[in-house]
Amino acid sequence: CDNGKRIWNQVEDSTQNSVDLSVEMAHHCPSGRLIVWDENNQPIENDSSSASVGIIEDVANDLSGPYALWGGIPLKSANGEYYEVRNRQTICRCGQSSNKPFCDGTHASMRFQDGLPKQPKSDGKVF
Ligand code: FES
Repeated sequence: CDNGKRIWNQVEDSTQNSVDLSVEMAHHCPSGRLIVWDENNQPIENDSSSASVGIIEDVANDLSGPYALWGGIPLKSANGEYYEVRNRQTICRCGQSSNKPFCDGTHASMRFQDGLPKQPKSDGKVF
C-alpha cells in the first residue's frame, strides 16, 4: 500500500497533493483495507474489476506475498460464516499471518519465498 511516502503521514497533511496521493494509494491497496470515503461517509471505489485471483510477488524486495482476490469474491470462514465482501482482499499464502485467512504483512518480515519463477511487471510486482 505504500509508495514510500507513508500514507499515514499523507492523511495528516491537508494539501491537495497529499489528498490526491492518499486517494491514489488507497485505491491501489491490494488488501482493500484502505478505503476512501466521500463527505457523505460513502466509500468511493474506483475498482470495477471482474472476479479474479492472483498472487502478489514483490520482485523489487525479492519477496513472495499473498493471494490477491479482486472483484468482490465472497470468502467463507471455516465455521461457515462469510466475511465482509470487498473488491480487493489479500489472503495469507505464507502461513504465518496472525489474522488468517487474511495477510497481515508477516510474509515480509519472514522473507517468504514461494519458489516460483518471478516475472516482474512495470511496477515491480507479479500478479
Ligand atoms: S502472505 Fe502475508 S502474512 Fe502470509
